[in-house]
Amino acid sequence: MEFLSAYQGREPAIVDLFARTFTASEGAEEGALIGELVRKLLFTTAANDLFVFTAEEEGAIIGGIVCSRLIYEQDERTVFILAPVAVAPERQRMGVGQRLLAHGLAALRAAGADIAMTYGDPNYYAKVGFRPISEAAARAPFPLNHPEGWQAQSLTDRPMTPLQGPSRCVEALNDRLFW
Ligand SMILES: CC(C)(COP(=O)(O)OP(=O)(O)OC[C@H]1O[C@@H](n2cnc3c(N)ncnc32)[C@H](O)[C@@H]1OP(=O)(O)O)[C@@H](O)C(=O)NCCC(=O)NCCS
Repeated sequence: MEFLSAYQGREPAIVDLFARTFTASEGAEEGALIGELVRKLLFTTAANDLFVFTAEEEGAIIGGIVCSRLIYEQDERTVFILAPVAVAPERQRMGVGQRLLAHGLAALRAAGADIAMTYGDPNYYAKVGFRPISEAAARAPFPLNHPEGWQAQSLTDRPMTPLQGPSRCVEALNDRLFW
């Protein structure tokens, strides 16, 4: 398995991975919604606000993470949200997701990010260092439908202390449907 971070020119294959993975796990409607979200993230987000990590095997994409910037204007720290994450249905539960997340977190740290956030199953993301955080300690761009899924981790030696003020996400995520 190898990890890649160059996504330009590979957008259709990446969108397809997310669409088919979420179709398999949550149905056709969710698959189409997440596929469209990823398409928008890849095509409408400024390059310095976006990281895309994929896991590849024999030329096929078997996993992907899209990371986009969250801006806390009253806080000097650099924050990225890792979402969505997908591992191809036939490759799940083999450790691909955890290795890909570890790779993505290390790459974000190397790029100078201070904090990683995510929004999903805490039982899963705890395995790669995320811990639940309250909306008071890190405001989300919209009120959360599943506050128990809101998680953070520090990527530096500094502990995860509350983020100051409101936050703003990239345009593709700027819809309360996703929160
Ligand atoms: C969630 C997902 C990314 C995990 O990737 P993966 O490669 O299957 O996971 P890994 O093999 O690295 O880790 C699996 C471990 O995490 C645990 N786990 C906890 N919650 C889990 C969950 N919701 N899905 C999969 N595994 C989960 C499993 O128990 C497993 O541990 P075990 O092998 O000891 O039983 C993948 O299953 C997926 O794409 N699911 C559909 C889309 C989705 O839900 N994405 C996340 C929300 S954005």
